[in-house]
Amino acid sequence: MSRRVTAPSLARFKKEKLKIVMITAYDYTMARLVDAAGVDIILVGDSLGMVMLGLETTVPVTLDHMVLHTASVARGARHALVVADLPFMTYQQSVAAALESAGRLLKEGGAQAVKLEGGETVVPQVQALVQAGVPVMGHLGLTPQSIHAFGGYRVQGRGQNAATRLMEDALALEQAGCFALVLECIPSDLAARVTRKLTIPTIGIGAGVKCDGQVLVVHDLLGMFSELQPVFVKRYAEVGQAISEAVSRYAHEVRGGEFPGPEHGYGDKP
Ligand code: KIV
Repeated sequence: MSRRVTAPSLARFKKEKLKIVMITAYDYTMARLVDAAGVDIILVGDSLGMVMLGLETTVPVTLDHMVLHTASVARGARHALVVADLPFMTYQQSVAAALESAGRLLKEGGAQAVKLEGGETVVPQVQALVQAGVPVMGHLGLTPQSIHAFGGYRVQGRGQNAATRLMEDALALEQAGCFALVLECIPSDLAARVTRKLTIPTIGIGAGVKCDGQVLVVHDLLGMFSELQPVFVKRYAEVGQAISEAVSRYAHEVRGGEFPGPEHGYGDKP
């Protein structure tokens, strides 16, 4: 396998027009699998609140949740860059909070970078983290930690004012030192303009094909989570259905006395 992806090495992807592949993972086994498949970045997203913990939004996710899952992913990733989300209200309130929270994700979780949501308002946090040696990925557009302010999962950046604001936020994050930027659920044309304007790579989710890379939640891509099905998700497999069928067969064979067979047991002789 090729050399490990690092935050600085992503600049080369943009320069050489190599698309960046990012996917979420939240545990060791999934991290091993997606890493072996050759993804460039594994995001330990706070989407784990929904797909792993059964919460309705990402808002209740805690730093302890993130540290536990990040440590598990970091043990499984050999090649991909591991980026961990700073959860809601562990960085918005102050630069000190951001430094302390990111410190835990790197020191206890083994992350190699953090991601945070927001534009100009989080610039002081980004600058302080970068100065402290923490690579930071930004996140604009539909930022799920602000779901209550948005009033629902809606496309962002539509209309001249919103588009201008998003472009300004993107430039401010680049200027503050972010090494990459996630663009979520914005018009494809706007994402293309931001991608052309920035020197750092953009990674899209519901932001069209012109971004420098793409990210999907692994449970969505594998067909393991059906509660929310946004148009930007492509299901590459139906693993949820495969799990149900396998477990039903197991239950049927246990109840019918077919499992375990003689080949699954131990005899007297070694
Ligand atoms: O939490 C998450 O999984 C994310 C991605 C959808 C970008 O932030």
